[in-house]
Amino acid sequence: MSDHYNQPELAALYDDENVWDASSDFYRDLALRSGAKTLLDLGCGTGLLTRGIVEAIDGSGVGIDPATPMLEVARRKTRGERVEWLEGDARSVRLDREFDLIIMTGNAFQAFLTEADQVALFRTAAAHLAPGGRFAFESRNPAKQEWREWVPGPASFRVQETVAYGPVEIWNDARMNADRILDVEEHYRILGSGKSLRSDFRLRFSSPEEIWDAMMPAGLAVEHCYGDYDCQPFTPAAREIVIVARLIA
Ligand SMILES: C[S@@+](CC[C@H](N)C(=O)[O-])C[C@H]1O[C@@H](n2cnc3c(N)ncnc32)[C@H](O)[C@@H]1O
Repeated sequence: MSDHYNQPELAALYDDENVWDASSDFYRDLALRSGAKTLLDLGCGTGLLTRGIVEAIDGSGVGIDPATPMLEVARRKTRGERVEWLEGDARSVRLDREFDLIIMTGNAFQAFLTEADQVALFRTAAAHLAPGGRFAFESRNPAKQEWREWVPGPASFRVQETVAYGPVEIWNDARMNADRILDVEEHYRILGSGKSLRSDFRLRFSSPEEIWDAMMPAGLAVEHCYGDYDCQPFTPAAREIVIVARLIA
């Protein structure tokens, strides 16, 4: 697992870089449309979306993440929403409970680098789906080669204003490997304290076919495959692979 989310300073500024957006609307609207009352958020991070959905559906939820600093932010920001925050790995966690809607967002799916890890994740989702429930998640479409647009090195330099630390300098680098796993390197410097932080992580760019193949052993089938958060069908030129899955009958 990436060490990024285990660094308290980086967890504290996650919400400054990642705000409520069109993808958040998509998952919230899916929850409302499907009449879900219970939510499981795998890789919930700081829980902005978990809290927003639970509030919108007037239901309850569980947010799971292996990174304690991310969960600490989630706990601190909870304002009476009925969410339990639990430390756990989406490949192995078992809660002995079922949920109407399970989500994995923020392209967290791309942190699962092998087919075995993906299958393990899908087995977790299948084990926690209530009858008629849905598992929704997304992954960037490799055919779009979005990483080519991510400006590397000095040109990526930017200053992000953050609630926790004021201005923070950020720059990054990325290198694509032959196996379609992207090595990403991010650098941060908190201007107030002068403290520098570095995070290295890897992202797998799976094709839709690879994802569908990994879903099958877990007993999951694709109900919808969208190319973005506007619910248009997936095409080879789409930026995202957004999947809504259900248990095979
Ligand atoms: C990009 S963040 C996404 C957070 C949140 N879902 C969002 O949409 O903002 C990826 C999250 O996945 C979590 N993660 C990484 N490996 C995981 C695993 N094996 N099981 C569950 N979560 C994992 C990280 O700790 C991190 O919080």
